Amino acid sequence: MSSSAHSFVSIAQASKEQIEELLRRSAYFEQHPNSELLKGRVVATLFFEPSTRTRLSFETAVNRLGGRVIGFSDASTSSTSKGETLNDTIKMVANYADLIVMRHYLEGAAQWASEVTDVPIVNAGDGANQHPSQTMLDLYSILKTQGRLEGLTITMVGDLKYGRTVHSLLQAMKFFRPKFRFVASRELAMPEEYLRFCRENGIEYEEHTEFSPEVIAESDIIYMTRVQRERFADPLEYEKVKDLYTLRKSMLGVAKPNLKILHPLPRVNEIDRDVDSCPEAYYFEQARNGVFARQAIITDALGIEIPDTKH
Ligand code: CP
Repeated sequence: MSSSAHSFVSIAQASKEQIEELLRRSAYFEQHPNSELLKGRVVATLFFEPSTRTRLSFETAVNRLGGRVIGFSDASTSSTSKGETLNDTIKMVANYADLIVMRHYLEGAAQWASEVTDVPIVNAGDGANQHPSQTMLDLYSILKTQGRLEGLTITMVGDLKYGRTVHSLLQAMKFFRPKFRFVASRELAMPEEYLRFCRENGIEYEEHTEFSPEVIAESDIIYMTRVQRERFADPLEYEKVKDLYTLRKSMLGVAKPNLKILHPLPRVNEIDRDVDSCPEAYYFEQARNGVFARQAIITDALGIEIPDTKH
């Protein structure tokens, strides 16, 4: 990876080598969580949409790296509420911070922000489009639990239409010969552009409307997702599909021994609480991995070298 500063707005722009470098860095930070690598640097976290994990793990990452954090978690407390444009907000914050982490409800907002400033932008989620830092912690979690990324069967369940985490993960996996099983209602099926992406990259996939024992039995990873209520224009449409797929402990009897269940969280009803104590449940550890993955992303985006990343 280049040692110069750069934005991280889309996993689709990352090479296999960049992804592998971020994974090596994640492993390094899991072993060495506290340092002074960001001493004297300021990171801004601008969250125009709600967040628990992404914002707090980015802020933990900065704190553990010895840097300082400014920002807002509620745009209504910023001058956005007075009509300030995103363009002006980004230009202002670029005066104060060495790196900007941004979550925005508009697809493409992070890319656009990266074009109006030289300060690196890290995309913390833009509408239904991308969530590349989530993808890095997902990949790190898959690698840790499976010992490899190559040749895995990954079953994605739930809201595959609006779920930006599944869109980003699908794109990143193109380097690792995955087989995908997409389980969703017709209303929330994986969009055609991502199915086309699979076909163009020689990725095997099947679409299912039933979350069947056969699908569970062949999965190495089950990636559950929340139905994204905030993306529905019509609340009645949300009510129709919100509880279609719930993973329960009783469904795991057919699972392979290596199966792990991931979920970007927050969950609503899609994983029953009785799964939490099962050995297959990995979603809380997955969220913990977010700190290491985000330490990796921040240092890499700022062009900060770290030791031992080739091991
Ligand atoms: N996974 C995720 O993006 O969670 P938050 O919305 O809580 O940040």
